[in-house]
Amino acid sequence: MSTTAVAPNKKQSVAERLKAEHQPEQDFLPLKGTDYVEFYVGNAKQAAHFYKTAMGFQSLAYSGPETGNKESARYVIRQNKLTFVLTTSIRPGNPIADHVARHGDGVKSIALTVDDATSAWKETTKRGAKSFMEPTTLKDEHGKVVLSGIHTYGDTVHVFVERGDYNGLFMPGFEKWESNYNPAPTGLLYVDHCVGNVGWNQMNPWVKFYEDVMGFRNILSFDDKDISTEYSALMSKVMSNGNGFVKFPINEPAEGKKKSQVEEYLDFYLGEGVQHVAIATSNIIETVTDLQQRGLEFLKIPGTYYDTVLDRVGHIDEDLKPLRELGILVDRDDEGYLLQIFSKPVEDRPTLFFEIIQRKGAKSFGKGNF
Ligand code: FE2
Repeated sequence: MSTTAVAPNKKQSVAERLKAEHQPEQDFLPLKGTDYVEFYVGNAKQAAHFYKTAMGFQSLAYSGPETGNKESARYVIRQNKLTFVLTTSIRPGNPIADHVARHGDGVKSIALTVDDATSAWKETTKRGAKSFMEPTTLKDEHGKVVLSGIHTYGDTVHVFVERGDYNGLFMPGFEKWESNYNPAPTGLLYVDHCVGNVGWNQMNPWVKFYEDVMGFRNILSFDDKDISTEYSALMSKVMSNGNGFVKFPINEPAEGKKKSQVEEYLDFYLGEGVQHVAIATSNIIETVTDLQQRGLEFLKIPGTYYDTVLDRVGHIDEDLKPLRELGILVDRDDEGYLLQIFSKPVEDRPTLFFEIIQRKGAKSFGKGNF
């Protein structure tokens, strides 16, 4: 593991810490960012339609029985640098069908782009990661993609994607998905962070996993005194890779007056998994106005929040009126502020939801809004 990790220092900003600690030559797992997020779902055709309609994704590629895939149907959709894969099994009794039966629809894989998927697999498995997929080369007329993968919390995995020698649409095995239904995009740009919910007392073991196995560092911590309300309580630590392109907050439940929202997730998902995917936009008011008109549902925020929010966060560039109407939250840290909003769960189980976030300098995650 990296020998450069130091305890977070409150006087240093997150950006300063990342810069001071990031020594690329010592990074045994250099990550270029999130490659895609893959969801295992009960009906991928309809899920893809939802993401196109409600969130403005575009059809990109498809793999299924028509393309020689006898086990599953996989729809690849994209918006700017954000790629989702919706995967379903077309028969019972395989890992995809079993995953959906147990968890409902949810995130299976947070795939990460690397220069060398073989090295990523070797370096992480040698440090204790359990292998999900040994390095595997896929080839077609557009070149080659090398995939490998490791397990993380619950049934969730990280797939390492090496696509430097590939110039096709997505990867071998997929064909272009031509659709005559192409709703306009909504300004969603890329994955800002992906949050995992883990069991009671499991946050620190998973923090250690990301430190030891993937070379990440803990850049922020919230304990139950920070995030304990009448309704919900949780503890959270934010893990970041060396260059800061990949950030994974890890939540565990904490005792509160009511059942923790993390505990509720664990009960309904039947275990640990991805709680939310946060997606960046450069104009949250326009994006959320559009998303709401398309039917994506967001958590309601009490009007009283806006009566005092500027006392807490100081000056912001935006008018308060549209923020209040849409339910957009504001938080500030040493480096600036951020605007964020949380969707309701997008399944019937109260499990996975989305966050839309616009950063205006802030590098944190909205502690004041949990
Ligand atoms: Fe978040």
